[in-house]
Amino acid sequence: MPNVIPKAVLIGMPGAGKTRIGQDVATVLNVEFRDSDVEIESRERMRIPRIFEERGEREFRAIESDVILGFLHGFDGVLSLGGGAPMTESVCDALERYIDEGGVVAYLDADPNEAIARASRSGNRPLLADGAARKWRRLYAERRPVFEHLANLIVHTKGKTPMQAAKNIADTV
Ligand code: S3P
Repeated sequence: MPNVIPKAVLIGMPGAGKTRIGQDVATVLNVEFRDSDVEIESRERMRIPRIFEERGEREFRAIESDVILGFLHGFDGVLSLGGGAPMTESVCDALERYIDEGGVVAYLDADPNEAIARASRSGNRPLLADGAARKWRRLYAERRPVFEHLANLIVHTKGKTPMQAAKNIADTV
């Protein structure tokens, strides 16, 4: 049996455009698209803010890790991850193994002001509730070095349409 792995995995901060650009990469490559947040919500039959509220971030991260590890084998489409996912050790280790197997982890590096504006528009981001800009910048400072170290492709999205950024990724796959 050939080793089936995703064509690309997209990481980056909330509001970086992972879902939109991931969908476009999948369209260009003519493969399926999955988003870890959507999979978590459908598996738990609960919206993400409610998972955080009722079960806490720790449990959310455990579910998230389980969902993502499940997709890293046997799925050959494009996968977008929730912004905090690579900060979980099991996810980070699994992404390193995925790269060793020939996978592409694309870090979408967005302009902070644009990403904050986009992320604040949705009410589905519990970690950014109240004081979104300050919290986003604090998380960015923590996560950016991890994203940059982990990814084997960095795509700067400023000044690009989602489709242009998607083509940058599709070209390397
Ligand atoms: C989170 C980002 C969210 C979602 C959850 C936690 C984070 O996904 O997984 O609210 O820790 O940054 P997006 O990056 O799609 O907003």
